[in-house]
Amino acid sequence: MSDYLMVASIDFGTAYSGYAFSLTTDFKRDPLLIHSNQNWNAGNAQLMSLKTPTCILLDKDREIKSFGYEAESEYSQLAEEGTDKQEDYYFFYRFKMILYDNEKLKHQILNDVTGKTLAASEVFAKFIKALKGHLLTQFIDRGKAIEPHEIRWVLTVPTIWTDASKQFMRECAHQAGIDDNKLVIALEPEAASIFCLFQENSRASNERSLLNRTGQKYMIIDLGGGTADITIHERLPEGVDCEYPSLKELHHAIGDDCGGTQVDNAFMEVLREILGQKLVKLMKKKQPSTYLELLREFETVKRREIKQKNYIRIPFVTINELIEELGQDDIDNKIKMSKYKNQIKRNREKFCIDAELMKSFFGPTTDRIVSLVKETSKIKAIRDVSLFVLVGGFSECKHVIRALKEALPNKTFIIPDDPGLSVLKGAVIFGHKSIIESRVMMNSYGTKVFEPFDPDVHEMSRRKRAGGRFICPKIFDFIVKKNESVPVGTTIKREYLTDEPQQCYMDLTMYKSDSEYTEYTDEEGCYRVCKATIDIPNPSDEQRTVEVEYFFGDTEIRMTAVETDSGESCNTVLKFI
Ligand SMILES: Nc1ncnc2c1ncn2[C@@H]1O[C@H](COP(=O)(O)OP(=O)(O)OP(=O)(O)O)[C@@H](O)[C@H]1O
Ligand SMILES: [Mg+2]
Repeated sequence: MSDYLMVASIDFGTAYSGYAFSLTTDFKRDPLLIHSNQNWNAGNAQLMSLKTPTCILLDKDREIKSFGYEAESEYSQLAEEGTDKQEDYYFFYRFKMILYDNEKLKHQILNDVTGKTLAASEVFAKFIKALKGHLLTQFIDRGKAIEPHEIRWVLTVPTIWTDASKQFMRECAHQAGIDDNKLVIALEPEAASIFCLFQENSRASNERSLLNRTGQKYMIIDLGGGTADITIHERLPEGVDCEYPSLKELHHAIGDDCGGTQVDNAFMEVLREILGQKLVKLMKKKQPSTYLELLREFETVKRREIKQKNYIRIPFVTINELIEELGQDDIDNKIKMSKYKNQIKRNREKFCIDAELMKSFFGPTTDRIVSLVKETSKIKAIRDVSLFVLVGGFSECKHVIRALKEALPNKTFIIPDDPGLSVLKGAVIFGHKSIIESRVMMNSYGTKVFEPFDPDVHEMSRRKRAGGRFICPKIFDFIVKKNESVPVGTTIKREYLTDEPQQCYMDLTMYKSDSEYTEYTDEEGCYRVCKATIDIPNPSDEQRTVEVEYFFGDTEIRMTAVETDSGESCNTVLKFI
């Protein structure tokens, strides 16, 4: 019997976020019976969308006012009531990417749209809390009763996130009131892969697709707002005592920060060049909701096919006010003076952008996605994979699809219905059933040890005298190797001894390396990734032995420890941040 009655997932996206849930009883009947919020409140309107923008409005006491579409509309409402009103509030948007490739998260701060700062952990925690609160209210509104301890929560992260970023998300969820032992971290493309598999599995047998064949290998490419995140899976048969298929990872995840919001950045960069850095900065500070409205307007234009003339509404009234305040040239002169004078024309309250410039907003991001996928498809171990599944909102972008198909004409591309939702819904299934049989390590992990010096094995320059003998310090002792396939649930055991009498805790340092051949911990590409503290139960004068079990095949690295003589388990803390 599971100790939870419901699984709830939170897909914390760069551009859009949402939640979904299903009861354990429903899951047994139909794993695809997953509920999510269909209508998000946007002030005067209800927006039909399963995800809502990743943004949050906090008041001056840093209390949550609103999030998503509602926060956008409430924030612009404040602007209508007077510009100084907004100064009392914090508006954070699209803040997830601060975690990309970031290991130094301890004192990470975030700037809101106007430049005001808060601790990143507080903003992330409040956003999770807001989504969690919305979900619980929805559930109660449906006349259902559920206690928080009866829910298993799933929070999604990109596969390519650092261990520190994953731990950061867990700590933020904890701050948001989600118990550590009730939280599972899901990897976004994995969740999407699981959803696609279940969706295909549910089709009538005569409709069954390629994806549903036992032994089928496929690349799942999550094209989101922040990242392109790639995972390669093989569908394994249903187990003897399991009615569901399972998935084996064939190569470690690969990805890059080339998501859909990079296209928005390219557009904003051109605007910045035309209007000037000073003006855009002032707009963000004084008229932040106008700036956000501009981004929203671009979001609509971005989803259309590119034509000879592409119109985008520009807030000229605000821009003219700012121009006056700064004593600058008028807007038409600014266009004329810029290098875009032949590509952008003003047409009343709109900019008319020519096709070439419009394409250039997409070009660099599309190129990076194409080369990422192309390079991945050349990797020897997975060269035979010919089925590519595109998920994530940016996989609805026609330019991206076209470019990928042209660059890889011999591959078959599948885009499931609603590709932007597969992560969200797959994360719910993942919370009920792990489905993943094994994962491939993206890095090597190990500890630092020393050995008696051996001239046949160790570099001469590393020889050090210690006591009466020569040793070789800083040897990288592998716990797991990069590219190793680790079955989920595998434990790796190591024994460690105390150094002194009455020792009450032990500190272990774990190192991470981007190579499978690392020999020494001070080599390039190898660095300290975390510190583990293990409490020794009932410290004594005798030397004590602790057996540590590392778990590497799961979505997060974990460890447990036992004092071998007494068999007592030790309290352990693994800190990546
Ligand atoms: N039809 C479309 N054409 C172009 N871009 C689109 C289209 N539909 C969605 N997008 C883009 O997809 C991105 C959002 O996708 P998604 O919701 O999967 O991202 P996310 O989950 O917020 O980000 P991530 O997973 O990277 O953290 C946005 O940049 C959005 O503009
Ligand atoms: Mg996403």
